[in-house]
Amino acid sequence: MNRNDAPRNPATTAPTTFHVKSFGCQMNVYDGERMAEMLGTQGMTPAAEGTDADLVILNTCHIREKAVDKVYSDIGRLTRDDGSRPMIAVAGCVAQAEGSEIQRRARNVDIVVGPQAYHRLPDLIDKVGRGEAAVDTDMPAASKFGALPARTKQARPTAFLTIMEGCDKFCTYCVVPYTRGAEISRSWSAIVDEAKTLVDGGAREITLLGQNVNAWTGEDDKGRAQGMDGLVRELAKIPDLRRIRYTTSHPNDMSDGLIAAHGDIDKLMPFLHLPVQAGNDRILKAMNRSHSADSYLRIIERVRQARPDIAISGDFIVGFPGETDAEFEDTLRIVEQVRYAQCYSFKYSPRPGTPAADMDHQIPAAVMDERLSRLQALLNRQQAEFNAATVGRTTQILLERKGRHPGQLIGKSPWLQSVVVTAPELSIGDLVTVDIISAGPNSLAGETLRRKAA
Ligand code: 5AD
Ligand code: SF4
Repeated sequence: MNRNDAPRNPATTAPTTFHVKSFGCQMNVYDGERMAEMLGTQGMTPAAEGTDADLVILNTCHIREKAVDKVYSDIGRLTRDDGSRPMIAVAGCVAQAEGSEIQRRARNVDIVVGPQAYHRLPDLIDKVGRGEAAVDTDMPAASKFGALPARTKQARPTAFLTIMEGCDKFCTYCVVPYTRGAEISRSWSAIVDEAKTLVDGGAREITLLGQNVNAWTGEDDKGRAQGMDGLVRELAKIPDLRRIRYTTSHPNDMSDGLIAAHGDIDKLMPFLHLPVQAGNDRILKAMNRSHSADSYLRIIERVRQARPDIAISGDFIVGFPGETDAEFEDTLRIVEQVRYAQCYSFKYSPRPGTPAADMDHQIPAAVMDERLSRLQALLNRQQAEFNAATVGRTTQILLERKGRHPGQLIGKSPWLQSVVVTAPELSIGDLVTVDIISAGPNSLAGETLRRKAA
């Protein structure tokens, strides 16, 4: 028997424990937390990763082919040694893109639920109990946020908060407009209330999330039209919220107000993830990016004028259909011009249903490999240079987790670098001033002022 065809253990039809495993982007992490909170309010309890849970939710990513393959291999691995298995739900963007096709490919999947329908998970679980089909890839007009239970307080110093979802940009390589739907902004009051709940629970840093987070629009509590900069200004008034970040942003939504906000809101961290994808205008046009290499560079220049120490991050795709060697060189050139603090870079992956998947001149794998390694060598060098340039600076870090050795704690700098300190007297959640004493490619070492004085 194929492991994907293993029967479900009948004892698990009314699950009491669950495990959510999220793949891909930070929004999936956020969605996974909201699913867990909702199941918690239904009386279910979280179980450790593995096959112990009665219900396993795979919260999936469809952005590249590799991410999808990972889901199917994970489904196979959920069969227990005795041949039984948990109830299995596939949530997230693979669920949205493939719908009931998933159950044809992996017959042991019980529930398929898209990113805009997961507030209906309890109903879908009941349906499985009744032996009914449990596939929900609706994108209901009323947002799921109104139907989800209020956030529960979490004792963690950093939190994600989705403020908008979806994408209207339709870059020709990207599945997101199809899997997450149109751009929808959450309301001002829902966001402010959720931020206050997170801060009451102990969050000191909130990262605002959206596929095009800076496209957020809404009205404030006085009915005035606002953009994301207005929202950030409002959130900055929450006294115990010390740091605000946002991701991912689109160059075309970098408003004057948001650029100015980087200069005058202290709590807005000096870090900007602003993907450009490629450095050649013909490729950018074929990608339907609706900005040029030059207009991107001008935005970076203006952001740097507002906040000279800002760290710039980005995403790149190499080997978009038709990309010539010379066009790829333009990507290296724009990287040289920007000087990134850190970046993500990918080989183009044709996604079913997107315009680019049907374009002529798909690039051979070997060419993509070579381009990616050249690009990554350059990006790694820039990251190391950026890190090295922070040595000798005194800055604040927010301690997020324990390090590998006793007494070690790891926090983030304002520029999103991991900083390791040895300071047993400090706790997770502390915002402390440190001297950066050394830098590696992926992290920095810091020394707290109090320890130096001792
Ligand atoms: N192939 C490769 N990378 C992609 N991305 C989005 N779609 C694809 C694709 N089809 C990358 C982009 C985007 C990031 C989230 O993933 O760089 O910014
Ligand atoms: Fe995808 Fe482009 Fe939308 Fe980003 S802006 S989610 S890359 S379509």
